[in-house]
Amino acid sequence: MQAFLGDEYAAFETAFQQPRVNSLRLNLQKLEPPELMQHFPNLDPVPWCETGFYVPFEARAGSHVLHALGAYYVQEASAMAVAQILEPVPGERVLDLCAAPGGKSTHLASLMHGQGLLVSNEIVPSRARILAENLERLGLPGVIMNEDPARLATAWGSYFDRILIDAPCSGEGMFRKNPDAMLEWSEASVLTCANRQTEILKSAAQLLKPGGTMVYSTCTFSSEENENVIERFLEDYKEFELIDIFDEQNATDWGFDRGRDRDGFTARLWAHKLRGEGHFIAKLRKISGEDTSTELGFEAFAQPFKAKLERKSWLEFQKDYGVPNGNFAVFRGEVQLIAQQTPPLETLKVVRAGVPMAEVKLGRLEPHHALSHWFPRDMPDVPVLDLELDDPRVQTFLRGETIHAEGAAGWVIVRVLGLGLAWGKRVGSTIKNHYPKHLRDSRINFED
Ligand SMILES: C[S@@+](CC[C@H](N)C(=O)[O-])C[C@H]1O[C@@H](n2cnc3c(N)ncnc32)[C@H](O)[C@@H]1O
Repeated sequence: MQAFLGDEYAAFETAFQQPRVNSLRLNLQKLEPPELMQHFPNLDPVPWCETGFYVPFEARAGSHVLHALGAYYVQEASAMAVAQILEPVPGERVLDLCAAPGGKSTHLASLMHGQGLLVSNEIVPSRARILAENLERLGLPGVIMNEDPARLATAWGSYFDRILIDAPCSGEGMFRKNPDAMLEWSEASVLTCANRQTEILKSAAQLLKPGGTMVYSTCTFSSEENENVIERFLEDYKEFELIDIFDEQNATDWGFDRGRDRDGFTARLWAHKLRGEGHFIAKLRKISGEDTSTELGFEAFAQPFKAKLERKSWLEFQKDYGVPNGNFAVFRGEVQLIAQQTPPLETLKVVRAGVPMAEVKLGRLEPHHALSHWFPRDMPDVPVLDLELDDPRVQTFLRGETIHAEGAAGWVIVRVLGLGLAWGKRVGSTIKNHYPKHLRDSRINFED
């Protein structure tokens, strides 16, 4: 780093002695900035992300009820630049190839306003489940896959308008935030990462439409994993060109540095130059190439309610629980809301084909947890139990215990500030708790 940074090295080293900054990205579907400020008065905006705010550590944003309600995602500030630079347009087909735990996928989904298709892939099964939970908590749509990118490329061809490759890396940019990452670092691991990144980029190149754009990012400093990976990729894939990030964005004003690629079109984010951790971002365009895209998968794969379920009982469910119309299909015992442009999924490892709405249990339909977070705020026509933020029953419910409230028997969404937390089932004045067991108590801060 001394050789790389020259005179700046001292400032770089000093930054490691400074405390890291904490930040969150607001989910506008759930909460507006003035309301957030009522709960967290000392917020500073993140300059490069409209919905990003620095929040003091003492505020413990990751364990606040608003976190459990999906009002925000605790995300490292520099990481917020990435989805912003990919700039997905509502209606497009977008792929996030290395997506867990879901900071950038939830950001992409928010920018897409629920229109088009987001496919979020994660190769490690346990991490893919956390990814699904995070999208679910924020009430955002997306297909969740658990695949090797090479298998996706073989199955789908050039299906996507935009692709994000937030590559697994040696994590040097996270050493301040997560000192344990230093123990895993070695020169050999940098080179292993570089080879893996090159492999993932190869698959991304196949999955991108001619004319499409992709963003490659890492949270490491080493040129071996950043500029060198991109330079090698451009040599091998002549149909790609780099886009000047500084031409499209106010990146200089934000304190981003130009990367050391041939033209300085990539971006470097340094902890000694801005309020955030280290990051590298490159944006590429596929200027030509053959369209190898597969056919749409939805028609073939969605066979709603033929075998196991009568359409009639689903229509009743829709009416009883205020579920708006859409494309629904039964997938692994769940009725899921499927995006129209969903590609074929048959031969692949799917975590979620769409948004689960209901579970089919012994031929009957029960509301799925995801549905309690899916509804917009203060949704009418849904059976609810509204609790104030300071009602002691909120904490009782989060621990997984039953609570008490008079009202009609049956399923209700337990809401706080008009936002769904989970389903409860009322018998008499007792509300049985259906907050999923693995989410109880923990309310872990799944930041990236
Ligand atoms: C930097 S993290 C992604 C963080 C995520 N984009 C976010 O914003 O929350 C990289 C992810 O790539 C996954 N990964 C590891 N090897 C991979 C491979 N060969 N192909 C695709 N993903 C891989 C890791 O498990 C890890 O979850």
